[in-house]
Amino acid sequence: MSAQRLASITPFHVMKLLARARELEAQGHPVVHMEIGEPDFITPQPVTDAGIRALQQGKTHYTPAAGLPELREAIARHYQDRFGVTVDAGRILITPGASGALQLVLAVLVDPGSQVLMSDPGYPCNRNFVYLYEGEPVMIPVAAEHDYQLSAAMLEQHWTGRSRCVMLASPSNPTGTVVADDTLQAMMQFVRQRKGSLIIDEIYQNLCYRGKPQTALALGEDIFVINSFSKYFGMTGWRLGWLVAPEAYIGHLDMLAQNLFLAASTPAQYAALAALEAPTLGVLEQRRREFKSRRDYLLPALRSLGFGIPVEPQGAFYLYADCSRFTGDSYTFATNLLEKAGVAITPGIDFGHYKADRHVRFAYTTSMEKLQQGVEQLANFLARNRS
Ligand SMILES: Cc1ncc(COP(=O)(O)O)c(C=O)c1O
Repeated sequence: MSAQRLASITPFHVMKLLARARELEAQGHPVVHMEIGEPDFITPQPVTDAGIRALQQGKTHYTPAAGLPELREAIARHYQDRFGVTVDAGRILITPGASGALQLVLAVLVDPGSQVLMSDPGYPCNRNFVYLYEGEPVMIPVAAEHDYQLSAAMLEQHWTGRSRCVMLASPSNPTGTVVADDTLQAMMQFVRQRKGSLIIDEIYQNLCYRGKPQTALALGEDIFVINSFSKYFGMTGWRLGWLVAPEAYIGHLDMLAQNLFLAASTPAQYAALAALEAPTLGVLEQRRREFKSRRDYLLPALRSLGFGIPVEPQGAFYLYADCSRFTGDSYTFATNLLEKAGVAITPGIDFGHYKADRHVRFAYTTSMEKLQQGVEQLANFLARNRS
């Protein structure tokens, strides 16, 4: 019999929709995919070449649990060069994706019964990881007025004697919004005063369309920062991410990494060395501009169809849209849209409870041409449903 803790853990509803979309495609019905949370672009060539070279040179053994020293150094240099922030490479641990980093960080912070404050809507795995460690996720409703991000006032309202840490993502999944500098600073100060910890997921950091990307590492050495090669670097399938942690936690994190995964993939780590070099960064910046063009097309197109997107998302590749003009049940809406119009999107329930049945997420992880086709099919679907 499966363990009790599994009772609280939920699957991604979108997986069911994705499976159905694949089935429809296999039957010869094309689907426009706006549900997928990974770039459509493949891994940049210099990265793939470096991975192949590593395999050919026999670099197929374990690395140290904390990762290849040269990759930890390269990430430290990336923070210096791109963000002007000095980070000791010894505080950087290489993990199997941001997913591995999230599991590690929660493993060192969460005791059974500890509360972890997070936004609703937010990235669904976070609450499930907290359940896995027998903690209690405290899901705080966030609305457009606050850019769908937490604030110190909200933390004040929800923090209790059992609260241990706060998790946020900027830019966020599913809303694409960025936390304002002063809001983040105030939250950091709040958490410090309560002797808690702040975990910020910066996986979409370099996918920013307004202003310069920032890192919360600038706030001090007592913050936990999660990142990954998955999204901006186009390496989802390589399974490689990292965690920057306060010095005092590194020993325990290293020990946990040894036990949980021994090490991240070795060829992926060698490949990632090329991801941080100028030729690759050039390709990635071009892709970032392409994502921006897609957002600039899709945002007004959805608004003009009647979806409510009150805050312009500044990053990631998602639009979180209020669909209450059309439905009070976003899951059924997404299912019907797939079945009747061949457009796949993600229902709000995957991201939490707050107004989840009135929201859906559109991902612009497909070509402009496909997006235009998707919008046309969506418009026809809405017109048919109205009449
Ligand atoms: C906010 C956020 N964090 C973490 C992850 C996991 O990413 P990775 O592929 O690096 O494990 C995702 C993936 O969608 C995400 O959206």
